[in-house]
Amino acid sequence: MSKYENYDRVSANYDKTRTAVGVEIVLGFLATLPQPAGKVRILDAGCGTGNYAVPMQRWFPNLVCMDFSMGMLKKAQEKFVKLGRERGAYVQGDMGALPFRAGVFDAVVCNQSLHHIDEPGTGFRNHRSFFRHANRSLKDGGMVIINTITHEQLHDGVWWGKLIAPAVERMTQRFTSDAQLHEMLSEAGFAITDRVVPLSTIIQDPLAYYDEGALHRREFRDGDSHFSLLSESELAAVLAEVDRMRGAGEFKAYIAERDKLRQRIGQFTYFVARKVKDAS
Ligand SMILES: C[S@@+](CC[C@H](N)C(=O)[O-])C[C@H]1O[C@@H](n2cnc3c(N)ncnc32)[C@H](O)[C@@H]1O
Repeated sequence: MSKYENYDRVSANYDKTRTAVGVEIVLGFLATLPQPAGKVRILDAGCGTGNYAVPMQRWFPNLVCMDFSMGMLKKAQEKFVKLGRERGAYVQGDMGALPFRAGVFDAVVCNQSLHHIDEPGTGFRNHRSFFRHANRSLKDGGMVIINTITHEQLHDGVWWGKLIAPAVERMTQRFTSDAQLHEMLSEAGFAITDRVVPLSTIIQDPLAYYDEGALHRREFRDGDSHFSLLSESELAAVLAEVDRMRGAGEFKAYIAERDKLRQRIGQFTYFVARKVKDAS
């Protein structure tokens, strides 16, 4: 589970700012599997409110939604029920210890969830365990699709990164570097075959993203778990600095300048890895 974000609480606001950005990339990779779509079996690990699971399940009906938070999982289920697709499978569980039989899935998808499963300074042991379990529950040649954020993107992929620098530093310790991710996947029997960085896509609702008042709204902050790593006094100082810049008529230009970095490096990165051998 996430030790720093209370997803049962956040589930009430999560969908107000988050949508399935980049899902076309996931669907594109899933379509490369040799099986017909109706036979493909997918695990969405850390599915949250089902933002990715819903469009994936439309094309690939055999999908298991898994999350540690019952609040998030319930939201996902509500979406499926609303769409008349309530037949889905929902599992409450820990990504670090996947409770599935060997060789049952063709793909394991993991969108923005890995950074919640380890505490800093623990050697990413739950990441390693997740990759080993994913390898075991995948068929030969199966793929794992990971949506994550590189260290560079953590710092400069949102315009407010510099304003919340202490939280970004703390968050960086929860994310693997590219080299660490390669090493861990390889140790677990995978080979990374693809890396995709969409430059034009914004994770947050684009209208809210450019709104000068965004950071003052709890609902908006709930869409970015960085904010839960700020103390109350740090958050107050950030909001005071925003007020100062707005008062001085500097804030629009600040956002535009910082956003140029995002336009160059993107906000998130997809890694696709294929199972090339059994995890040792
Ligand atoms: C940022 S949300 C991403 C949700 C969804 N994949 C998406 O992209 O919209 C992270 C999710 O990971 C889940 N999570 C955190 N730790 C977990 C764990 N150890 N096992 C399973 N899910 C976990 C949280 O409950 C939350 O729903």
